[in-house]
Amino acid sequence: MTPHTRRHVTLLVLNGPNLNLLGTREPETYGTTTLADIESGLDEAFPEVTVRFEQDNSEGALIDHLHAAHEDGVDGVVFNPGGYTHTSVALRDAVAAIEPPVVEVHLSNVHAREDFRRTSRIAPACVGQMSGFGAEGYWLAVRFFVMREK
Ligand code: DQA
Repeated sequence: MTPHTRRHVTLLVLNGPNLNLLGTREPETYGTTTLADIESGLDEAFPEVTVRFEQDNSEGALIDHLHAAHEDGVDGVVFNPGGYTHTSVALRDAVAAIEPPVVEVHLSNVHAREDFRRTSRIAPACVGQMSGFGAEGYWLAVRFFVMREK
């Protein structure tokens, strides 16, 4: 029998502006799970995955994280760009420029909210988008990368 070796996956889970306030920020829309809860939940659920978990409120710092993920050869990026989703050409260009595939994640269903949230400048440069599944959307996106590496 061939011994089964489990491939180790390294992912960047990147969070944009205002997501540091999860837990208390508009809980009726975003729930009460904090970003720290999401990070520890992913670590527990996916022991075979090394998660580099980051949050930043500024566009340039998010771009730097995407570039670093590329330079370090991570296997994929799970990205919640927050409000920059709907405005940022620079973040879209960064996603398009890097090698690792990116999955866009939103806690809320952006298609069921205000009109301006229905457009993502970033999603067309991504593999796909997860929207409306709450914190579980992060799990689903990580699961996609784990399946992909098998
Ligand atoms: C969000 C949706 C965005 O429209 C909003 O600006 C956020 C959070 C979400 O996770 O549902 O900051 O990305």
